[in-house]
Amino acid sequence: MIIVLLGPPGAGKGTQARRVEEERKLVQLSTGDMLRQEVAGGTAIGLRVRPIMEAGQLVSDEVLVDMIADRIAAPDCQAGCVLDGFPRTTAQARALDTMLAAKGRRLAAVIEMKVEDAPLIERLTGRFACATCGAGYHDTFRPPRVVGVCDSCGGTEFTRRADDKAETVTARLAAYHRQTAPLLSYYRERRLLHSVDAMAAFNEVARQIAAVLDRV
Ligand code: AP5
Repeated sequence: MIIVLLGPPGAGKGTQARRVEEERKLVQLSTGDMLRQEVAGGTAIGLRVRPIMEAGQLVSDEVLVDMIADRIAAPDCQAGCVLDGFPRTTAQARALDTMLAAKGRRLAAVIEMKVEDAPLIERLTGRFACATCGAGYHDTFRPPRVVGVCDSCGGTEFTRRADDKAETVTARLAAYHRQTAPLLSYYRERRLLHSVDAMAAFNEVARQIAAVLDRV
């Protein structure tokens, strides 16, 4: 089963994709994480995309399509995957349709994570992650049980994303509305779109996603 989580920055795509991965054994493919690995590794792609990401703009379709095509074709994704952050433009959606059709595969569902813009700034500017295991936290909504200690691995170092500053978040939201929101009608026309209330609490959002996955 291949599914897409679609929504603006901070909608909770990564949070819920990790949960789907654990519960359904679908591999989470986060294009944002893949790009951040390229940046951290100082690769040619990383050097090229870093200023684009730090400005809150979208990286070119060509880079993303090549990156995801390689990953979806890998053996660990044969049983299925959850796409987190891809596609983000109509050109990427068309390329995804083509690459799946070439392998006799298709999307099972696209889940829109419906949120209002205003709370997203607070969600993103308060976000941090464990530097050791990557577990995600939030200053207000999901602090670690013991302040300064990761619940999952006991690590004590945490990181914040360079693009989670308030001014960059505003640019990322504008890019979403301009370039990604048109995908809602693209997938509605193909009868693949399902919506969940991503303003709800973590467990309720997960319950609504699980209900969609049980139906498709
Ligand atoms: P990417 O890493 O994909 O970032 P994003 O889409 O901006 O999404 P985020 O990861 O910021 O948010 P999320 O929806 O995953 O929310 P999360 O679960 O973390 O992309 C980064 C950049 O890479 C892009 O700007 C672009 O430059 C480039 N890029 C990536 N893919 C691309 C593509 N396909 N094409 C072109 N460029 C691309 O949650 C956020 C916070 O909210 C967390 O702290 C969490 O704890 C909290 N939270 C989550 N759910 C809830 C809830 N229900 N209630 C309260 N708090 C919640």
